[in-house]
Amino acid sequence: MKKINIAIDGPAGAGKSTISRKAAERLGYIYIDTGALYRTVGVSALRRKVNMESDDEIAGILPDTNVELKFIDGEQRMFLNGEDVSEEIRLPEASMAASRVSAVPAVRAFLFDLQRDIAEKNNCIMDGRDIGTVVLPNAQVKIFLTASPECRAERRYNELCEKGIQADYDQVLSDIIKRDYDDSHRKIAPLKPADDAMTIDTSGNELEQSVECVIKAIREKAELYADA
Ligand code: DC
Repeated sequence: MKKINIAIDGPAGAGKSTISRKAAERLGYIYIDTGALYRTVGVSALRRKVNMESDDEIAGILPDTNVELKFIDGEQRMFLNGEDVSEEIRLPEASMAASRVSAVPAVRAFLFDLQRDIAEKNNCIMDGRDIGTVVLPNAQVKIFLTASPECRAERRYNELCEKGIQADYDQVLSDIIKRDYDDSHRKIAPLKPADDAMTIDTSGNELEQSVECVIKAIREKAELYADA
């Protein structure tokens, strides 16, 4: 039977991962954070000290970059050549590296099959930038989650502080603005809502309000009757 696929796209810090994880839990689907895949390739590039200006050098690391996604205690963990890098991929330098490597066509092609494979085999909510437009154009439900840059920077800043990672709000905000620009202006798979996506702005919302809003949208669209 064809699996239910839900695509949630949007800019950094719109609350995609927290909202998607909670909605997936309530609906009994698995949740896939595709940004973590790009972050893992970003960490690989940083470790190999490649010239980040060069697409060819970034593409050159792919044959020796083994990216695995595993669920441990229900949580998505990322492995780079067998090593668990789930914490390292959250560092600010990994965010910038992820954004950079994600603009390289060979990197997108490298991660494409992995994402498609998971979606074919599981009812899932997958979040990213190009899920509704490129990875799962036939997803039954497509949502574009957004929020103002200031609101997103504040959330990201609080997240980093909670994890004990030192951060500066102004730096987080300028990184977000730069990443938005880069992610939406790249030639390949730029960040933009799919034509048939429903846009939800989470600015000023409490987390639970946004989760409710997303679940309602999913139910209306997919006519799901999961016990939420
Ligand atoms: O969602 P995130 O912040 O963890 O994503 C990290 C980077 O990866 C982001 O700058 C853009 C890129 N990305 C992408 O290009 N396509 C995706 N499907 C997911 C993330």
